[in-house]
Amino acid sequence: ANGLVLNGKKVLITAGPTHEAIDPVRFLGNRSSGTMGFELAKQAANLGAEVVLVSGPTNLNVEHSGINLVRVTTAQEMFDASHEHYESVDVAVCAAAVADYRPKHVAEEKLKKKDDDLQIELERNPDILFSLGKEKKHQFLVGFALETENELENAKGKLKRKNLDAIVLNSLKDDGAGFGGNTNKITFIDKNLDIKTFELKTKPDVASDIWKEIISRIHV
Ligand code: C5P
Repeated sequence: ANGLVLNGKKVLITAGPTHEAIDPVRFLGNRSSGTMGFELAKQAANLGAEVVLVSGPTNLNVEHSGINLVRVTTAQEMFDASHEHYESVDVAVCAAAVADYRPKHVAEEKLKKKDDDLQIELERNPDILFSLGKEKKHQFLVGFALETENELENAKGKLKRKNLDAIVLNSLKDDGAGFGGNTNKITFIDKNLDIKTFELKTKPDVASDIWKEIISRIHV
């Protein structure tokens, strides 16, 4: 055996956006690139973990013997794939930017434009992280929060409501943080409300900080 700290551990990571079909050619989505989730997956695998990476549509790819990349499109598919693997994992990190809503009816044919306005009725998608929190047994469960106001309070609320062990707060107020870019500024909050704020860093460095925080809490 080698000395890799996550040897023998199984990790589930969700990453990327989800796409919710409107018709055969159109969808609702968001600008998540998947970078944070893929980086978290790579580093966990490099630390010896067996990783299931459930990713929505992204341009990213990863070739690593320790990573089982499961590609999905919709929130419902991400929900199903995540639950399928949840039972067997030690750590789950939900880094995906899941669409909160999906079109209630998916048109079978491409919608034709009319002179009138168009209304699309939306229904709620399941909250994957909330559901994993409800079913949590032995897993160490980590979520993300992207807030624009009352950041700490909202993140703490989410930590509690979703029954998490830790949450990574990502402030959009910080220059260079958040979607698309290659840097992030995070605050790591655990369920004892132990709070640690980090400098603006590249996403690989942020992923490394996140794993250090998680590892220090699962090897107690
Ligand atoms: O409640 P909110 O969407 O702000 O929470 C963000 C966290 O919840 C992220 O970890 C995200 O991956 C997760 N989430 C989820 N399923 C959803 C919505 C959010 O897993 N439908």
